[in-house]
Amino acid sequence: MNDNTFSPSLHGEVYYPSPQVVEQARLKDWQALAEFAEQDLEGFWAREAEELEWFQKWEKVLDDSNKPFFKWFVGGKVNIVHNCIDRHLTTARKNKLALIWESEDGKQVRTFSYYALNREVSRFANILKAMGVRKGDRVTIYIGRIPEIIFAMLACAKIGAIHSVVFAGFSVDALRGRIQDSQSRLVITADGAYQNGKIVELKRITDEAIKECPSVENVLVIRRTGHEVPMEANRDHWYHDLCALPVANGKCPTEVMDAEDPLFILYTSGSTGKPKAILHVHGGYMVGVYSSLKYVFDLKDEDRWWCTADPGWITGHSYLVYGPLLLGATSFMFEGGPVYPYPDRWWQCVEHYGITVFYTAPTAIRSLMRFGEAWPNRRDLSSLRLLGSVGEPINPEAWRWYYSVIGKERCPIMDTWWQTETGMFMITPTPVVPLKPGSGTRPFFGQKAEILDEAGNPVPQGQEGYLVLLRPWPSMLRTIYGDPERYVQQYWSKYPGKYLTGDSARQDEDGYFWIIGRTDDVIKVSGHRLGTAEIESSLVSHPAVAEAAAIGLPHEIKGQAIHVFVLLRVGFAPSPELAEELRQHVAKHLGPIARPEAVNFVDKLPKTRSGKIMRRVLRARAQGLPEGDISTLEE
Ligand code: WT7
Repeated sequence: MNDNTFSPSLHGEVYYPSPQVVEQARLKDWQALAEFAEQDLEGFWAREAEELEWFQKWEKVLDDSNKPFFKWFVGGKVNIVHNCIDRHLTTARKNKLALIWESEDGKQVRTFSYYALNREVSRFANILKAMGVRKGDRVTIYIGRIPEIIFAMLACAKIGAIHSVVFAGFSVDALRGRIQDSQSRLVITADGAYQNGKIVELKRITDEAIKECPSVENVLVIRRTGHEVPMEANRDHWYHDLCALPVANGKCPTEVMDAEDPLFILYTSGSTGKPKAILHVHGGYMVGVYSSLKYVFDLKDEDRWWCTADPGWITGHSYLVYGPLLLGATSFMFEGGPVYPYPDRWWQCVEHYGITVFYTAPTAIRSLMRFGEAWPNRRDLSSLRLLGSVGEPINPEAWRWYYSVIGKERCPIMDTWWQTETGMFMITPTPVVPLKPGSGTRPFFGQKAEILDEAGNPVPQGQEGYLVLLRPWPSMLRTIYGDPERYVQQYWSKYPGKYLTGDSARQDEDGYFWIIGRTDDVIKVSGHRLGTAEIESSLVSHPAVAEAAAIGLPHEIKGQAIHVFVLLRVGFAPSPELAEELRQHVAKHLGPIARPEAVNFVDKLPKTRSGKIMRRVLRARAQGLPEGDISTLEE
């Protein structure tokens, strides 16, 4: 069947868009646009890019002369911040709300119009410049979910510095490694972050981390919690003190950037070794994020958008910070999580702010489902018109609950499959596409996906295989910062010319894609991407541990949970206390999100003859499944 059509009678459980949804949708003819983009990839993306403002137009849309180092909008001059803020200031959007923020305890609400956002970002940028931050410098940002994290990111982009945001759920080791790798001169942090009523000591963690980071010259500290933190003279500066200085005031010009100039790096876990610094650029990233958010979540001026992701992950970068601003939308940002202090905290916000489009992760849906329908039913959710899901496969049961209890069977669910590396949605419906619970439907306009066997041949329909992408796209990662060889090796060498996603998937008789999971050693805990290598190296840094292996096992709420297998050093004996100590050790050093669910003490780890741990065998054994091909197992 044609990739650009939907058969009138699809197989299985299908949800067709209602006439009202089609009526409201900006894009009614999915097929026509899919066909156009397939036939004229560059034409499609040029048209999207023309909806944004460029200081100087590009000479060439796509340069693929040096694959896999693709370039987009070659010769174009732009700055993503010009399109996120500056261009709105000359229109009626100037006084429109860009951001509404509510604190975890609900006691504070802060709102920023586009005009006010420009003031905040300009001030932040003036301060960065006064601190000596220059175009191309790396700046690490380690702050919780407060407006200042957005100001900090945009301020970096405005002056051409490269931001590297580290999720506030990570701790000392993770932060240190990322600062060292990026060679940041400045770290922006806060005195603390609130999480479920408790304070996460961001400043103390930063102090600990930068003891071994000689590149760091300054630390800029945002006051959030107000509790006392140590400040080192000449190195640490309160942000509010600097705001009072004359240099902070006044206009700050938005730097003219080349379309291919770096915008940010974001660390993500891969199969082996240390996390990879995924590099995104001003021009192509901007166009991809803008276009995908426009077509998939259909944001219009009257919408109120809520993406629950943290800015510390790609979802936050693309669809909490940059995307909605590129579209001139109003975003809501909430400091807290879904169930604190009550399981209707989120629904209270939907009701209070009249959220129209809501984007979250399956793990949040599952954790809310547990508390039953009474909590959401107490709230008026009738403002919602579209829902979204991201981060891991959504199980059909959670999908149906989300659809009926939250969306009242009125709101289509956009199950968006993508990655840190892709920058934007890659396999996703749009509001007018017929949905199947658990499937992201088809590739986005201009994209083509395939499912391959080990040898690189497409698998028969219905069978599982390696998911690859066939076409370049503007917001694709440009490289792994500082390690271009690893970029080529990791993504483009298994099947030359095809982008390896690291996921396994199957395609059904209607051409719909179903993501199964990672094929590498990445664990998805509550949608957060963690590498076995990081967890294992954290464990072996404990004096009792000689060797360790980490795997992900299915978990009802988290999707996957971390299980570790530990071989103790001579002189240490297994005990429940030691198991608990090791769990805390990982949480303290790597971050609470990496805390293992279970610690198993073993006498031996299954290894290949060349000494590699066979996590696949551990996984099979733990689940009581067949061990598969174990011919490479030692002895
Ligand atoms: C991995 C990427 C970019 C979104 C946030 C996560 C999994 C992501 C889906 C989905 C099934 C999904 C994949 C992918 N994933 N979205 N809708 N359905 N799986 O970004 O941390 O880079 O993780 O998340 O396994 O490879 P990330």
